[in-house]
Amino acid sequence: MAFIGKDIEEAIRQLKLGEVIGLPTETVYGLAGNAYNSAAITKIFEVKNRPTFDPLIVHTSSFERVLEFVSEVPPKAKLLAEHFMPGPLTLLLPKKCIISDLVTSGLETVAVRIPNHPLANELLQQLDFPLAAPSANPFGYISPTSAQHVDNQLGDKINYILDGGECQVGIESSIIGFFEDEIVVYRKGGLSIEAIEGIVGKVRMEEHSSSNPKAPGMLQSHYAPRTKLLIEDPKMPTDHLNIGFLGFKDFHPEISKENQLLLSPNGDLQEAAKNLFAFMRILDTRNFDKIYTEFLPEIGLGRAINDRIKRATS
Ligand code: TXA
Ligand code: MG
Repeated sequence: MAFIGKDIEEAIRQLKLGEVIGLPTETVYGLAGNAYNSAAITKIFEVKNRPTFDPLIVHTSSFERVLEFVSEVPPKAKLLAEHFMPGPLTLLLPKKCIISDLVTSGLETVAVRIPNHPLANELLQQLDFPLAAPSANPFGYISPTSAQHVDNQLGDKINYILDGGECQVGIESSIIGFFEDEIVVYRKGGLSIEAIEGIVGKVRMEEHSSSNPKAPGMLQSHYAPRTKLLIEDPKMPTDHLNIGFLGFKDFHPEISKENQLLLSPNGDLQEAAKNLFAFMRILDTRNFDKIYTEFLPEIGLGRAINDRIKRATS
């Protein structure tokens, strides 16, 4: 098991040694290492058991520092950064050669994010290198939203987890790329499409596929619990006692209440996003034969939540 604490000095010590640590952010916990150190990057891929064709996000503390490792910022990227950074937004920008091909899996762009989390930002400010960090889950499993989740899954492979409490957003950042004048959403996430379009106008959605080289992490089956997760339908066998239900705001009338969790009894999409992964994990430990779930309204964060549900059930 890893040490879990709030000791920034210890986190810095580990990172300077080339180690990888659990990093809190407002979206999900990251598995962070020095983005300029190839050995640390290699360790990230190993610990996570992640294929090297799936590139990493680079985290830093301010937009000025992004210019250390990015060669160009399109005007609309700058506008989005001004409005939403720090925050749950990742921008794909042309990289400088200080970022190795290991980080970007050979792509010419690097994914850039400034988290909005006090402990993470304090750490990033004190470092003289940015942190490459994927979500701190084994490849293909649900992202972690607490230090304990990280410890449960990767604790035997890392020394230290910086404990920043529960993640307040709860789903990963929205990933945005730029093509000439077009804005492309590669991953729906913690910043709603409506908020993005409010600043830069219409965006295009990149459909996910299992062979999309531009955002390989958008693989269809992702974020999946171990127990079979299915979308509820009228024909589902509710006489079957050993089933769980992950609902939005209302209990399923035909399933025992103690087998159910509601993402937000008040119908609040932000609360639902915050609870999504933690509740999937809880239900996953209950040894149900199957877990049923349902789609949320396709607005605001509901779109990003539905995207996670689609992939967890596929
Ligand atoms: O909220 C988040 O973004 C969290 C926290 C820790 O910051 N990080 C995260 O990282 O979700 P990860 O590695 O689980 O997902 C990053 C996604 C992957 O789908 C990857 O394929 C995509 O970003 N990505 C990274 N660099 C890219 C690039 N240059 N072009 C296209 N997609 C890229
Ligand atoms: Mg991930």
